[in-house]
Amino acid sequence: MFKIGLVQNNPKFLKAKENVAAVLELMDKLDADLWVLPELFNSGYNFKTKKEAARCAEPADGPLCRIFKAWTAARNCAVVAGFPEKAGSKLYNSALFVNGPKVRTYRKTHLFGNEKKFFTPGDTGFWVEPVKGVKVGVMICFDWFFPESCRTLALKGAQVVAHSANLVLPWGPEGMKIRSLENRVFSATCNRVGSERGLRYIGQSQVIAPNGGILVRLGDGDVRACVVETDPWTAKDKKVHPRNDLFKDRRTRHYELARA
Ligand code: ACM
Repeated sequence: MFKIGLVQNNPKFLKAKENVAAVLELMDKLDADLWVLPELFNSGYNFKTKKEAARCAEPADGPLCRIFKAWTAARNCAVVAGFPEKAGSKLYNSALFVNGPKVRTYRKTHLFGNEKKFFTPGDTGFWVEPVKGVKVGVMICFDWFFPESCRTLALKGAQVVAHSANLVLPWGPEGMKIRSLENRVFSATCNRVGSERGLRYIGQSQVIAPNGGILVRLGDGDVRACVVETDPWTAKDKKVHPRNDLFKDRRTRHYELARA
């Protein structure tokens, strides 16, 4: 069994130290193999200027990374956490993957709305890393709207898709059921709650099974952590009928517009 933990938070805008301490306090009470935290969990989201977006930004190997390295090493687990990444003069809307000494960064591929004013579109592509033998892929919020994101991760072998989010549109939680179903993967969407400058975040963090079933879904106002047990080996089976394997049945020569 593989335990997936979510922390649905309500970060205080630009109060990174407090926000990090608050999620660690919730996580310390539970035990998981993989923790997924929201997009930009430490800074908040609704920036007005690039200068403001840079206030909590840090390099991928900065203080946040050092905290998670020590924390995950002590608990034999991994964390996926969204944060504003500073790389020279550029800012990325990124997620840190930390598994003890192993660190990797995913930079959000599909920027949403005003994010385009502050962040550079991600250049890391989609990748998969093992956690206790389970392949974990990462994507961030609006990436879900592009089925190619989750499909790419699944084709790379992801059994669990860690989806850090700050969902504001209403369709994400139901839409991710389809992403899980069409790729036969577990998805762990971790969203935040609360409002910032008139923008309301819809909560409903969830873990979805490869058959599209909801294993857990939090409320739209809950600030809490939860852990669910999954059997990620079921995500290796892409069959929906004895004669239909969703990956083997792909007819890629008919998908030529995919690169247009
Ligand atoms: C979003 O991508 N944060 C909506």
